[in-house]
Amino acid sequence: MTSPSETILNVDDTEAIRYAKTRTLRRAGFTVVEAGTGAEALRQMEAARPVVALLDVKLPDMSGLEVCRIIKRDFPGTLVLQTSASFIEVADRVRGLDSGADSYMTEPVEPAELVAAVEALLRLRRAEDALRRLNATLEERVQARTAELAAANERLRAEIEERSKAEEALRQAQKMEAIGHLTGGIAHDFNNLLTGIVGGLGLLKTRIAEGRVAEVGRYADAAVASARRAAALTHRLLAFARRQPLDPKPVDVNVLVASMEELVRRTVGPGVRMETVLAGDLWLALCDANQLENALLNLAINARDAMPDGGRLTIRTENTLLDGTYAAQAEIAAGPYVTLSVTDTGTGMPPEVVTRAFDPFFTTKPVGEGTGLGLSQLYGFVKQSGGHARIQSELGQGTTVSIYLPRHHGEATDTPITSLATAADTPHAGSGRTVLIVDDEPVVRMLVVDTLRELGYAALEAADGPAGLRILQSEPRIDLLVTDVGLPGGINGRQLADAARERRPGLKVLFITGYAETAAFGPGVLKEGMALVTKPFTLDALAARIRALVEGA
Ligand SMILES: Nc1ncnc2c1ncn2[C@@H]1O[C@H](COP(=O)(O)OP(=O)(O)OP(=O)(O)O)[C@@H](O)[C@H]1O
Ligand SMILES: [Mg+2]
Repeated sequence: MTSPSETILNVDDTEAIRYAKTRTLRRAGFTVVEAGTGAEALRQMEAARPVVALLDVKLPDMSGLEVCRIIKRDFPGTLVLQTSASFIEVADRVRGLDSGADSYMTEPVEPAELVAAVEALLRLRRAEDALRRLNATLEERVQARTAELAAANERLRAEIEERSKAEEALRQAQKMEAIGHLTGGIAHDFNNLLTGIVGGLGLLKTRIAEGRVAEVGRYADAAVASARRAAALTHRLLAFARRQPLDPKPVDVNVLVASMEELVRRTVGPGVRMETVLAGDLWLALCDANQLENALLNLAINARDAMPDGGRLTIRTENTLLDGTYAAQAEIAAGPYVTLSVTDTGTGMPPEVVTRAFDPFFTTKPVGEGTGLGLSQLYGFVKQSGGHARIQSELGQGTTVSIYLPRHHGEATDTPITSLATAADTPHAGSGRTVLIVDDEPVVRMLVVDTLRELGYAALEAADGPAGLRILQSEPRIDLLVTDVGLPGGINGRQLADAARERRPGLKVLFITGYAETAAFGPGVLKEGMALVTKPFTLDALAARIRALVEGA
């Protein structure tokens, strides 16, 4: 098959032979240009750009071999078919091929053989061209394939995302189920506890009516015990919601650990060796001491559960400076922290447990043995305190849980309040002093007022913010304001305290809080001469707080 572009250059100085070859090729359909000398051949190369050069070895002006070399150098795309009538030995053919010819024929050449030889060369040419084109499009094809792969990758990513959404939905569903479970459990427990309270109080009333006063103590005790358990239950629930009322104070964590050591030792039992490594110059931490004790106890219990065959428990305190990188990861401020860590040599946790251990309701313990609230309560408390908690665990080696608490700069103004003194210690301490109590709950108000009167204070009452403010403005002598934080009437307890302090800068204030409004009490909100007591509280605890405030202790 030929095409118009496929021009053949026929170089031969013998005119008759040249003519014969030209005719043969033209008959076969090729375009042919001719040359009789080497120089002319090179001019034709330039002008006609032939695909094949038919080149006689013996030319008048230069050797055909030399012409071949020049063609191959300057027109590498042209195929050269060397022909010769006189150089017909093997060595001649070798020399011809060595000088770059693609083929070599000895003359005379049969016309059919000549055409076949030229066509064979052209086939070679076309194959080479095809290869070159293929190479040229290689990049395109690589790009196309890459795009296909990218698309496949994208599909895969979408599938993974879909799947993780499904997993998240499942997790959410499991969480809701767990919450449902727990809500049912709480309702059940609460009903039991309420039965204890209501029953105890009912019998108490009956016995008093009958005049059998000697027997009432038992029922009062039963009611109080039930109420305490109910309070503990709500506390645990509020803790992981980070809604618990915290009372952050400067805490010497070493002192706290030392005071807890005996209790922890008893908790973990004789099978576990316990040691404490306390930093010598430990900074003060700012947190709620009771909650920290709780957290330490929770960690000790977890450690004990992880070491059923005994082991070693280490409680360690340290000063830690968190740098920006780690602090940013933990979403806390960089700076100084007091670290309390608990290390055990127990079972350790696989990574998937580590990542979920702080989740509320996440437990690996059998039903009835763990609620999965311990670590989430701890985490909630620590985060609410502006700190951070982390778990390091090695399966089969043990676990360290570390709590980072923000450093308090300054003196320890208060030691941890672990047991409140009772009101009975100093009866009638309040002689002559006046307290304003503001609370919208009549029962709470009545109990507080009665307690205050019992302590020898004069008590004034108001049921909402505006009423409280009116009394504050009209009564000249008020030594202490005791106010609920959540109040009806448009002025809450904090606003009431602020307004009161504008007129009486030194006024002592005791806030009573439930859970909902505690978000308002981050660290630093309580000013000098203010304190906080959280519901539910015992009247003894209330009395101790009031005494401490009024007497400036
Ligand atoms: N020291 C530890 N060693 C090994 N695993 C632990 C350790 N502490 C916690 N875990 C794992 O983390 C889970 C969650 O702990 P968390 O304290 O929140 O709940 P719990 O101990 O199961 O129940 P609860 O504390 O409410 O009684 C545990 O069930 C346990 O699988
Ligand atoms: Mg636990």
